[in-house]
Amino acid sequence: MAIEYTLSIIKPDATKRNLIGKILNRFEEAGLRIAAMKMVHLTQQQAEGFYAEHEGKAFFADLVAFMISAPVVVLVLEGESAVQNYRDLIGATNPEEARSGTIRHDFALNYRYNSVHGSDSPESAQREIAYFFVEQEIFK
Ligand code: PPS
Repeated sequence: MAIEYTLSIIKPDATKRNLIGKILNRFEEAGLRIAAMKMVHLTQQQAEGFYAEHEGKAFFADLVAFMISAPVVVLVLEGESAVQNYRDLIGATNPEEARSGTIRHDFALNYRYNSVHGSDSPESAQREIAYFFVEQEIFK
């Protein structure tokens, strides 16, 4: 299987509730290696740019307001089939639909305050990683 890289964000609801360490532990326990990591307080412009594909949707303004409400932790995770494995680890976007044992099932509060973001395809991962990191910051 191919080694892939995916982008993860530990969102404001999780950073505010002191869950960073517990969530990082889940990543490592699942065999994903942290290749890059930084804590950032996103600006409105950064959040709007990151979620540009959702512009025009009813939830866009709420999503952006949430993402700039506190610092986030942005990571590049490395592993075999990392994009899909990470999505399996975090669970469905809506925590009510997330399988038991997934990060969102265990930590998320609702559809908006859902604790973590993950790239939805290898193509998105490439774009999202480049949005936050330059090559020299990624330790492969
Ligand atoms: S879509 O329209 O199906 O592509 O949207 P979806 O994949 O379900 O969600 C995309 C991201 O938007 C967030 N979201 C919301 N944020 C705030 N308020 C509301 N109501 C809301 N609904 C969806 C959702 O958490 C997804 O965030 P990411 O970071 O991509 O997981």
